[in-house]
This record gives sequence, C-alpha cells and structure tokens, in this order.
Amino acid sequence: MKVIKSIDEMKQVISKLKSIERSIGFVPTMGYLHEGHLSLLKEARKEADIVVLSIFVNPLQFGENEDFGHYPRNEDHDLLLAQENHVDYVFMPQVKEMYPKSVGISMQVNQRIGVLCDRSRPGHFSGVVTVLTKLFHVIQPTYAYFGLKDAQQVAIVDLLINDFNFPIQLRMVPTVREADGLAKSSRNVNLSDAERKEAINLYQSLLIGKQRIIDGRHSIDKIERDLTDYLNQRISGKVDYVEILSFPSLEPITTDDKQVIIALAVQFKRVRLIDNLIINL
Ligand code: PAJ
Repeated sequence: MKVIKSIDEMKQVISKLKSIERSIGFVPTMGYLHEGHLSLLKEARKEADIVVLSIFVNPLQFGENEDFGHYPRNEDHDLLLAQENHVDYVFMPQVKEMYPKSVGISMQVNQRIGVLCDRSRPGHFSGVVTVLTKLFHVIQPTYAYFGLKDAQQVAIVDLLINDFNFPIQLRMVPTVREADGLAKSSRNVNLSDAERKEAINLYQSLLIGKQRIIDGRHSIDKIERDLTDYLNQRISGKVDYVEILSFPSLEPITTDDKQVIIALAVQFKRVRLIDNLIINL
C-alpha cells in the first residue's frame, strides 16, 4: 500500500495505471474509518483492479458553526485499517494541497436540495460536489463507492456524475449498523453515554415508519408527525427533520415512485446524527 499526499504524484500513478488499462475503484472518505467505510472498500476490492481510498476532511463542506474543528481524526489507525483491507493507494492531501488559494469557482447544486440536510446545512452539498469534482479529476475512477447512510449525498453525486458526464459507475452501498441498529458514523464517538443510549431510537423510529408506509393506512404527513413525536418523547436532542420522499429524486411521493426514503436528522449536544431507510414499493 502506498500513501500519497501530492496531487501531482497521484496523477502520475493514475496515468500509469490507465496506460495499462487497470480499472480503478475509488472510496472517498474523511477518515476515522469504521465498518461503514470498510464495507465500501470491500465492495471496491471485489470489483476493481486497483483500490484508491482518499482521506480528506474537506473544510468547504462544513458550515461556520459546525464540527470541522472537532471532527475526529486518527491517521495511524486509518492506515492500518486501509492496509488490512487491501487498499492499493491512500490519497491523503493536506488542505493547502487541495485548496492552495480560495476556490475561484463555486458549484451550485440545483436539484435534490431544499429538503433534508440541505435545509439546515446550506452550502454543504456545494462543498461536497466541489471536492468530489477535484477528486474525480485526479483519481479518474472506473467505479466510485458511496454509502446510502448519506442518502442525499449519494443522490447528489448521482446528479454530478450524470450532469458533468464523468465516466464513472456509481455504486450505492447499504448502511452498516451497530448491533442495536445505530448507523455507524465517525461522529458517534462525540455522543455522551446517555445520548448513545437514546440514539437507538433513530433506527427504531425508521422501522416503525417503514411498517406504516407499507400498511398504507396513514398519510405521509401523519407518519412524519408521529415519528417526530416518537423521537421527541425519547431523546434529549432536537429533531431537525423527519421526511418521507421519493428516492433518489427527493421529491414529494407520487403513485409512480418505486423507491421512497424515510430520512431523519437529530441534533445532539455536540453531534448531529442522520439516518434513513429506503423502501422498495
Ligand atoms: P465520510 O463521512 O467519511 O463518509 C465516507 C463514505 O462512507 C460516504 O460515502 C458515506 O456514505 C459512507 N458511510 C459512512 N457511514 C456509513 C455506514 N454506516 N454504512 C455505509 N456507508 C457509510 O461522506 C463523506 O465522508 C464526505 O462527504 C465525502 C464524500 C468524502 C466528501 O468529502
């Protein structure tokens, strides 16, 4: 496994791999790796000749009052896990390598926003598509792997790839959970013990929502309200949203939809957690 910090060196490696027609599987992350990330690496390992992992905490996608400063980091452990999971290259640039000066062009997302996380994190997805555009140009992946845990992100990456004609096959990987159902997240370490216990209710409420959607006896509005009440009664954090939409278009549900998503976000003291379930109709 080779660790690369410079864009130029990464580009040279990629150009050699392309010249001998190797397929490249790319897993972009912000590090502090857990089993969710590892499942993306495993999918990549199954399918691609070469696996590239990037670790970069992207300042552009954090709002002013968000957790960029205390986003968890552990480089040594990440590299160990990467090695154990047979990664070929870890691309780990510094902030000044990716953004030597302020970014001269901003990318604006126009669809699949105005709902879910975009409402409380304005500009977040613009930061995500900007860094991914740079990473896609450097790595030129054949396949790119994203977790369904961040469902709005993956829906927007799908738009990015299609709208900008990246020759990349997008792979959406199911959410990996703890034994009690909590979705694995790098941010879970910033929950207090009490909040960690309460957090199982996120997944529980999604399961209840799924059952009620399948039953078809209640309106979407009513299910959203009931799940919000369910959470409010069981957690100290603040419910940011509970929303049920079509997936991946993230629009109000119509009778033609094949997949719907129930998604929620809860703001705890130091951490905002998100989770979702996608239901095939
Ligand atoms: P990060 O939060 O580190 O997540 C990296 C990838 O791991 C994302 O595709 C995310 O959806 C996936 N992931 C996280 N938790 C998961 C879980 N429990 N099960 C399955 N997959 C999971 O998402 C980002 O970084 C950044 O926004 C990034 C795409 C790297 C751009 O900066």
